Amino acid sequence: MITIVFTLLSAGCTDDKGNESSASTSCTGVTDSMGRPKTIEDTINLINALPRPLSLECFLNSLKAPLNVFAVNSTFSAQPAVDQNSPRIFILQDKMVLSVAPAGIGRTLLEFSELNGSIETFKGELEFPIEGTVTMDTILAKISQTSTTSTCLTCHTSERKVAYKTLGSLYVSKILRPNESQRINSSYLKNQATACNPSINKHRCEVLNAIFVNGQAQDASFPF
Ligand code: HEC
Repeated sequence: MITIVFTLLSAGCTDDKGNESSASTSCTGVTDSMGRPKTIEDTINLINALPRPLSLECFLNSLKAPLNVFAVNSTFSAQPAVDQNSPRIFILQDKMVLSVAPAGIGRTLLEFSELNGSIETFKGELEFPIEGTVTMDTILAKISQTSTTSTCLTCHTSERKVAYKTLGSLYVSKILRPNESQRINSSYLKNQATACNPSINKHRCEVLNAIFVNGQAQDASFPF
């Protein structure tokens, strides 16, 4: 009798996790240091450790709470805010920022930058869902317009392609900072997340939830 109960219980446990492939880490199963990427290199390593096809939601949920954020209702960028309820959201880690938009034309993109010196950043962009292994060439291919310029140049001036560590090359260009007067508070966005109706816009709810509920996001100042 005891054996039967035990068998049933463990069968239940196996069922819960049975869908995860053992070959790749689950979205929330990465180590603490991996879930706190501080550079573009760390971000690429994290992305490459996560399951395929990789959704933006899975990537955001892999980041360890509490997240530091700067959400901005700014419409003049490659990842424009839709409005105060769906702003552009910067996730800040050390001298690197990740940028996502819960809705609008930039909603499938992850943009990122890492400080290089004091007035410029290495920049890149990836489109989700991600298949295959991401390299510096994946990033270059996504944003290159000519062999020496990217689509970011229109707004981020003084652009050039330079070596990024020993991993390949990336574009560096001038920093454009979010405007404090356009900031949308985390407490407001947490309410948007908990009130979000997935039958209206599932992606928006998933992104807001990953950052403001699971990620326990708090407002912070821009790191550079
Ligand atoms: C239409 C103008 C415009 C274009 C084109 C543009 N950006 Fe930006 N970017 C901005 C503005 C404005 C900001 C400041 C934050 C805000 O208000 O959205 C910014 C800030 C950033 C930041 C954070 C700060 C920094 O400068 O490092 C990143 C990362 C970024 N952009 C990535 C990109 C990438 C990658 C591209 C090209 C694929 C790009 N942007 C193209 C306008 C633009």
